[in-house]
Amino acid sequence: MSDLTKSEILNILKKVEDSIFNKNLLTLNSIKDFKINNEILDLTISIPVSSNQINDNIKNKISDALKKDLKSIEIVNLQIQEKVTAHNDQEKDTLLPGVKNTIAVASGKGGVGKSTVAVNLAVALAKAGASVGLIDADIYGPSIPLMLGIKEKPKVYQDKSTMKIIPLENYGIKVISIGLLIDDNAPVIWRGPMASGAIKQFMTDVEWGELDYLIFDMPPGTGDIQLTLVQTVPLTGAIIVTTPQEVSLIDARKALKMFTRVNVPVLGVVENMSYFIAPDTGKKYDIFGIGGGKNLSKELKISFLGGIPIDPRIRIGGDKGIPIVYDIPDSEYEKAILEISKNLANEVEIRNTNPESKVEILLDDDE
Ligand SMILES: Nc1ncnc2c1ncn2[C@@H]1O[C@H](COP(=O)(O)OP(=O)(O)O)[C@@H](O)[C@H]1O
Ligand SMILES: [Mg+2]
Repeated sequence: MSDLTKSEILNILKKVEDSIFNKNLLTLNSIKDFKINNEILDLTISIPVSSNQINDNIKNKISDALKKDLKSIEIVNLQIQEKVTAHNDQEKDTLLPGVKNTIAVASGKGGVGKSTVAVNLAVALAKAGASVGLIDADIYGPSIPLMLGIKEKPKVYQDKSTMKIIPLENYGIKVISIGLLIDDNAPVIWRGPMASGAIKQFMTDVEWGELDYLIFDMPPGTGDIQLTLVQTVPLTGAIIVTTPQEVSLIDARKALKMFTRVNVPVLGVVENMSYFIAPDTGKKYDIFGIGGGKNLSKELKISFLGGIPIDPRIRIGGDKGIPIVYDIPDSEYEKAILEISKNLANEVEIRNTNPESKVEILLDDDE
């Protein structure tokens, strides 16, 4: 028994039926340490921050499986570490030394719920135990302060020769918004260099501290400004938000093409406004059609991170500055967002632990 190997343990773990970890994510690297002392197995495994509670029930399942397969083991001392791995990137480490991962939330067009998804994902990841920052980079429609109920301006302090901005905080996430730099009613006449200058400042001059995820709410679309911004931020990956109907999907394809051109991996597609459940009858309506996001991800060979229903409470929460994930626990919507945040964390982990898995996405150029 003393020559038990990590891969034998891994094989047993992979058989455990549970949703705490995506089995594709368990690698030899997940098994941090193990030691056998007569009938006692001490085992430490590491998984990315998950939105599921790792409770005794889950731990018992794992222990039972190990005891069943490893005949001589009667006691398992199991430690599960939840840890987010860092994207290994020199430019990111220079600009954002304390930040492990940078994620762009993008969409081909506006109004599909990009900011809503960015805010709720950030809050969901923070609820799961991750440290999260959010940069509102949408110069055309900065809406994050409203959605998070943030009204004050960030404080600035002078640190020797440099100026540092302290991010605002609400619902457990750190936030900075381009909306705080520009006058509410001023039309945006910024060109690419100015916008990218502001974003750069948000990365270098803001006191982010240590973060597992820094999320960027990008401006919608795939024009020059978007391209400049995407190139300004050293990104771990992007997620694309779409609604199910074809007009939105066409633009989502363009967004994917933009990221692929600049070698940013697309971590997956989120379908917003997937369906509506009538509160009086419980009947499900597919207002914008069915399966659009799923089919798109199949077509483009990227992950489908999940779908979010239409719910008036989402809009109301956005307007009131109380993210629905925070406000209405156990709702269909919260479940959907938690699932998406877990899938996103998994995708990030997969990219970070197998850098070669940065899939090349093939797209026709004449679309
Ligand atoms: N799933 C949803 N159900 C109901 N309203 C939604 C949903 N997603 C977004 N909204 C609302 O739709 C509007 C546009 O969403 P927003 O996140 O601002 O889009 P974008 O950032 O893509 O322009 C907002 O008023 C928002 O509250
Ligand atoms: Mg927006």
